[in-house]
Amino acid sequence: MIQENVNLRPFNTFGIEVCAKRFASFSSISELKELIAQRNGDPLLFLGGGSNILFTKDFDGFVLHNEMTGISIVEETESEVRIRSGAGEVWHDFVLFCVENNFGGVENLSLIPGSVGASPMQNIGAYGIEIKDVFVSLEAFHIESGEIHSFDNEACKFGYRESVFKRKLKDQYVISSVTFKLTKLHKINSTYGAIETELAEKGIKSPTIKDISNAVIAIRSSKLPDPAKIGNAGSFFKNPAVDKSVLEKIQTNYDNVPNYPAPEGKVKLAAGWLIEQAGWKGKTFDTYGVHKLQALVLVNYSTTKGSLIYDLSTAIIEDIEAKFGVVLEREVNII
Ligand code: FAD
Ligand code: EPU
Repeated sequence: MIQENVNLRPFNTFGIEVCAKRFASFSSISELKELIAQRNGDPLLFLGGGSNILFTKDFDGFVLHNEMTGISIVEETESEVRIRSGAGEVWHDFVLFCVENNFGGVENLSLIPGSVGASPMQNIGAYGIEIKDVFVSLEAFHIESGEIHSFDNEACKFGYRESVFKRKLKDQYVISSVTFKLTKLHKINSTYGAIETELAEKGIKSPTIKDISNAVIAIRSSKLPDPAKIGNAGSFFKNPAVDKSVLEKIQTNYDNVPNYPAPEGKVKLAAGWLIEQAGWKGKTFDTYGVHKLQALVLVNYSTTKGSLIYDLSTAIIEDIEAKFGVVLEREVNII
């Protein structure tokens, strides 16, 4: 059913109140095709959980909410299992399905909000794992031709919070299902410092994938705001990769600058650290601000205008460039 003038507040984790000219949900390719046939030239916006989007204005077009569900095992051996998930499944429910069935590989990605279908869009990652590490292929509906195309790992061109669907193929495809490769021979990844600390505090020496999942849930809950209570879309900016000379310049003024190796001889800086050093952490402007426990997360305390949060992000980008010579890039999709 197509609805008109729909308030999108329940459909974005920032909790921004904007109006969509038309809105409909679909749970199959045939429903999707029928809806697209009725677009009447309107711009389309495909929404999963709305957890990586900031609406800065009303959407004068057709919002299509993905509700294609279903998780099935498509191949299984003694050591490995391939699982296909509908794009509309909740990502964390998929992780719990894997953990409960003893299929390893996604436990470090516990509690990331949003849908399975959006997970390849920015190659979601956390605590030492990205979905490209367990990704086999996806099926996507090509809007222009109405055909279903399959993409393997290479075709997706995954990078840090990147894929071909954010670049060359932007707005051309609707991801309908994703197939992952999980292992029964678990490779525990607890290298991320906070996981080791969490396990040590619990006295766990030989962690199971369930222990890792629980540790990640505990760490995330301790510093990331719960969107059900405080509007946010996780990290607002990406961690920037810079030339070593940029890091060295910052190190002349600061001790212990967090940095990590990055491709092409660059170093990755922690944007949260830069924003905190610049004095933004915990800053509040009545209805919105910078989270007090994680400077990379912009928050909406009450249904403020998305444009105010966007303007705050611009002010932060300009300040970080002036203070550190580093240009931050937004991770969140701006509409
Ligand atoms: P949406 O916000 O609905 O959409 C995001 C983009 O993908 C939009 O451009 C949309 O049009 C497009 N899209 C969505 N579904 C489809 C589809 N089926 N086909 C084609 N295009 C589609 N991200 C991380 O990587 N790591 C984290 O640790 C992390 N932590 C977070 C913590 C919090 C508290 C929050 C709120 C967010 C966090 N995020 C994190 C960001 C977010 O959860 C992910 O980007 C997630 O994959 C977004 O899923 P979604 O379904 O909500 O996407
Ligand atoms: N830091 C600060 N101050 C802050 C925040 C962070 O100094 O306010 C420092 C920390 O002390 C640490 C470093 O920055 O030295 C990294 O911090 P953290 O481990 O919290 O991770 P992050 O870089 O802030 C990234 C991802 C998260 C992901 C976590 C865990 C990006 C943009 N963000 O955050 O992803 O969950 O690592 O792996 O890469 C998201 O993409 O939405 C997201 C939440």
